[in-house]
Amino acid sequence: MTQSGHHDIFSKDERLHWMRNPDVRPYVFVRPENRIDQPGQLHAGLDWFPHEVLYKNPLQMDEVSFADRILTLEAKAFGPSGMAMPRWVFYDCAIVPGFVAGFAHRTATLPKALRNVLTIEEGDEWTPLSLFIIIPTMSKKGEWVAHNLCSVNSLLDKQDQFYGIGYLSKAFGLWYANVRTCCGMTQWGSPAVRLHAHYGDFEVLTAYTPVHSYSRTLTYRVNIDTSCWGTFFTKKLKEGFELNHRPAGFSVDPKSDQSLKDFQRRLERGEGPYFIDGNETIQKGLKDPLTIYLGT
Ligand SMILES: CC(C)(COP(=O)(O)OP(=O)(O)OC[C@H]1O[C@@H](n2cnc3c(N)ncnc32)[C@H](O)[C@@H]1OP(=O)(O)O)[C@@H](O)C(=O)NCCC(=O)NCCS
Repeated sequence: MTQSGHHDIFSKDERLHWMRNPDVRPYVFVRPENRIDQPGQLHAGLDWFPHEVLYKNPLQMDEVSFADRILTLEAKAFGPSGMAMPRWVFYDCAIVPGFVAGFAHRTATLPKALRNVLTIEEGDEWTPLSLFIIIPTMSKKGEWVAHNLCSVNSLLDKQDQFYGIGYLSKAFGLWYANVRTCCGMTQWGSPAVRLHAHYGDFEVLTAYTPVHSYSRTLTYRVNIDTSCWGTFFTKKLKEGFELNHRPAGFSVDPKSDQSLKDFQRRLERGEGPYFIDGNETIQKGLKDPLTIYLGT
């Protein structure tokens, strides 16, 4: 077995059987200049993605249908939250500066449940099932920012879902693009917090963010640590978390603006760095208070 436990996770966990389906492949939808030179080199110990990767060039007119399918999926996934991405944002802020990836299913063998919720173009060999976008930031530390994550699971009944595809889409992108540090934004109480807090130590940079359309947005930063990625599926504690962190003596209540603002003030006073324990996010309800930790 390797560092990340590929054999344990993908062969023993039946919920992840789709990862062994040859009709499901990771895709990279990146303009030629932005292609990654040596995919996966930084996190070389991780063996989760032996698949042949589909490459599509978004600057070619004939690939526009793949972009259409991505945007339809994205609009449906984000519709309920009012944060669907305008088409020009996809081009200006993702395709031109960044890196777009996800998983796709061979169209000819798409299960019926997917045909019911996705817009299918029979002429397309592949239909996207998920989307993850990262953009390099100006940070001198070489940080990226996670700009978008969505999956078809948010449109499917439980029994038809591709368990873990949202988590694995982000994992694939971070691994493939050799990302060391990744920031991101999400809303308190969102199921996505559970995913984002499982790629390494999860530091909170803003807890209340009125400059965003939704003030209850948190900004986070993660130093990518693939050795803990499997804990998302096994629900086991990340080894050593308590050695590097101690309770800060307060918790954050996702339901309370006052709690978020009090936390934000602490951050603005430079009292951190403050962290959240990924394991706690999956043990507790989405809206439950979370313990805040200080790095040691
Ligand atoms: C958030 C999102 C990306 C998660 O992807 P996903 O494919 O549904 O999730 P995965 O299958 O990878 O992971 C499943 C785990 O995520 C968490 N999860 C996912 N959806 C959940 C929900 N509705 N409620 C609670 N937990 C949820 C759980 O921990 C679940 O594991 P469990 O079933 O063992 O408890 C997806 O639901 C989505 O596209 N949502 C709409 C867009 C969005 O909000 N994106 C996030 C922007 S920051």
